[in-house]
Amino acid sequence: MTKQMLCRGGLLRWVVQLLRTLLLRIMSHFKAELQTSYSSPSLQIVPKYVPIPRVKGLPIVGTLFDLIAAGGAPHLHKYVDARHRQYGAIFREKLGGTQDAVFVSSANLMRSLFLQEGQYPQHPLPDAWTFYNKRHDCQRGLFFMEGAEWLHNRRILNRLLLNGNLNWMDVHIESCTRQLVDRWQTSIEQAAANGEHYELPDLERQLYRWSIEVLCSIMFGSRVLNCSEMQCALDEFSQIVHKVFEHSSRLMNFPPRLAQLLHLRIWRDFESNVGEVLQQGASIIELCISLQRAQPPSEQEQEEALYHKLQAAAVPSEMIKRIFVDLVIAAGDTTAFSSQWALYVLSCDQPLQRRIARERAAAESQLLHGLIKEALRLYPVAPFIGRYMPQDTQIGGHYVEKDTLVLISLYTSGRDPAHFEQPLKVLPERWILGQTEQVHQSHGTLPFAIGQRSCIGRRVALKQLHMLLGKCASQFSMQCLNEQPVDCILRMVTVPNQTLRLALTLQPKVAAL
Ligand code: HEM
Repeated sequence: MTKQMLCRGGLLRWVVQLLRTLLLRIMSHFKAELQTSYSSPSLQIVPKYVPIPRVKGLPIVGTLFDLIAAGGAPHLHKYVDARHRQYGAIFREKLGGTQDAVFVSSANLMRSLFLQEGQYPQHPLPDAWTFYNKRHDCQRGLFFMEGAEWLHNRRILNRLLLNGNLNWMDVHIESCTRQLVDRWQTSIEQAAANGEHYELPDLERQLYRWSIEVLCSIMFGSRVLNCSEMQCALDEFSQIVHKVFEHSSRLMNFPPRLAQLLHLRIWRDFESNVGEVLQQGASIIELCISLQRAQPPSEQEQEEALYHKLQAAAVPSEMIKRIFVDLVIAAGDTTAFSSQWALYVLSCDQPLQRRIARERAAAESQLLHGLIKEALRLYPVAPFIGRYMPQDTQIGGHYVEKDTLVLISLYTSGRDPAHFEQPLKVLPERWILGQTEQVHQSHGTLPFAIGQRSCIGRRVALKQLHMLLGKCASQFSMQCLNEQPVDCILRMVTVPNQTLRLALTLQPKVAAL
């Protein structure tokens, strides 16, 4: 028994020993495997990205019906604003079933986006325009350019329109603005002589004409405007630029390719109007060149004209034409509607008008500057600014893949209490240095965008707005006559939802105040 037991005990020990050895081998193998795999340079630690909340939509149409229920394209800025309140500062949505985009609204995310826009930032272009350009094999200006061609021309225009001393253009802006405001003053005096109040007629058209006139005189000098032929050409030109804006905003709600295929009127009108604008723009340049040939400009006049600066920078004349026409188109609606919004904001606050008038009499402009910042913050004419991401990237800890369209929701960011104290109030003082408690994040408002592809006309537009609003505050007392609150809707740019009715009376001389 003992022998048997010993025998059995020996076998048991041998089996246990074998198992232990095997177990140790397996464990040491796994340990080695774990060590080599973690120390291997080929395996990278995958960072943990915060997922971007996605708005759920239907398979083919995405969230199209939600957008239609919210009022459609004219209310897109408000629809997106409501989404931000629901999902936060970043979300993803397939709007209308076709366009998948990431929307961002916080100052930090916006900054992060511009830092990663790449060497040749790509922005979304209106479908109707790109379709037209392709159909007509049309070479366009800066806004439509891409890659190296864009960068080359952009660098030249940065030097001429954004950087350094731009006082040379003040004389042109001052002269066009003085003429407009003087015309209003004469009309007020005539109305007063008849015992009537003066209400600004056709404000939108007048501001369009003014913004185009300013750009022509910056391009060729103010002298060209004295020619009656030029005045007629400008009248016609500003009317068709205005019409193009109306036609292209109608095509925001309908696919242009389909409209063309069905031979619809909205496409035919747009197509013939764009053709006219491009042709008329080119003939204005021809007219200016022939006027200058007949009476050559002095050296000083040449120094005060963008056309000569572009020639001096060796820009070929065909390219100058392309650039000029697109500058006019880009300037027309943006400046006209930003000015309307600023006039609206000012006309709602008579004490502010008097304070700005006094400030101007003392040759200061802090409040005026603050008023313009406020108007652009609350009513950004471009409520969405987009970039296609040039590579896979991360924005604020969120992974965004190459070619994704990221849209900045400027309407939302400008009204975000995290960026601005009492965001819905017009408080020009908040922009006065040293009063930073009213502004938590100044980058919450970027009406001209930032980065490489920001607005090339920013300084021109700001000079125009300062000149117009300053003169109006000094010379007039303004009152908004609209009975219903004025709100903004999107028609390519944000515009008032009703015709703006402004009544003007003459301001007593500021010195006497
Ligand atoms: C208050 C008036 C204006 C506002 C709010 C405004 C706004 C903007 C914004 C936000 C962009 C950037 C678009 C993007 O990044 O995709 C832009 C681009 C542009 N703006 Fe303006 N703009 C104004 C006036 C003007 C004026 C007066 C001109 C002409 C002198 C002009 C010419 C352009 C051009 C050519 C571009 C395209 C730049 C490029 O692609 O490199 N803008 N504008």
